[in-house]
Amino acid sequence: MSITNFPGSASPSPLDPSITKVTIPALAEMKRQGKPISALTAYDYATSRLVDEAGIDMVLVGDSLAMVVMGQENTLAVTVDEMLHHTRAVRRGVRRALVVADMPFGSYHGTVADGVANAVRFIKEAGAEAVKIEGPRVALVRVLTDAEIPVIGHLGLTPQSVHRMGGYRVQAKTTDAVQQIKADARALEEAGAGLLVLEGIPREVAAEITAELTIPTIGIGAGPDCDGQILVFHDMVNLSYAPKAKFARRYADAAALFRAAIEHYREDVEHRAFPSDEESYHLPSAVKKQLSEDAEAHPKQRLHKI
Ligand code: KIV
Repeated sequence: MSITNFPGSASPSPLDPSITKVTIPALAEMKRQGKPISALTAYDYATSRLVDEAGIDMVLVGDSLAMVVMGQENTLAVTVDEMLHHTRAVRRGVRRALVVADMPFGSYHGTVADGVANAVRFIKEAGAEAVKIEGPRVALVRVLTDAEIPVIGHLGLTPQSVHRMGGYRVQAKTTDAVQQIKADARALEEAGAGLLVLEGIPREVAAEITAELTIPTIGIGAGPDCDGQILVFHDMVNLSYAPKAKFARRYADAAALFRAAIEHYREDVEHRAFPSDEESYHLPSAVKKQLSEDAEAHPKQRLHKI
């Protein structure tokens, strides 16, 4: 390879050298400097471009796409191939943010070798820069890290464990559970995880883990003391058709905006108000004239009045 410049902790985007690419070491540096990390999910080119251009630091192609994009009841059914398809689209839309792909249920729950093979696909075939895996899978995190694949851990309310948890419930509410999640967090950091998502746990527990670890924590329903925050894009803009969770602040009502636009369009079509003459293509005047003359000369062949 050829390294042409060394701009500091992060490299310029190969697509645009004026953009400084967000990397795992750059996020660790943000934690050291006390700068909050912003993260959002995205699943397609259009929204990932918006998210990236707004300066969000990390874009997660979450397996939540099973629910918010594919309309499934939970995250369990989405496949590796479906996640790869969406990760490729997001990759094309992002120039600055770190692109993380969620490993779906079943893709790392068997052997470590299977987990590594699937993780390699996200890096090689879809351009992800890190993978996220749920639960304290310490051995797998160590092997992935040795294989040069950055890993984001995910502890607390891990949606792929919905059946074991008996629903989506806040976790780490007993002293034993608090000790366990803290031990798991330390073990993931020690195994090489570059970041840790903390979901659905009491604020106090997230604060303690955040203070103890040197890697950044990214919270979702884990209070304001994490090093960063992540939300599901569709929750944030009211497109998820789900009851609003306590932590999921709505920043816009895209459903209302889109519904009004769609209804307006339907009315315009029904009233022949769309498209207008200005929104139509026209024949060159010479061709139009010639066609009218032909039609007048041969009235029986005339099909349309021009
Ligand atoms: O899939 C997802 O969207 C996630 C976030 C909630 C962290 O895992």
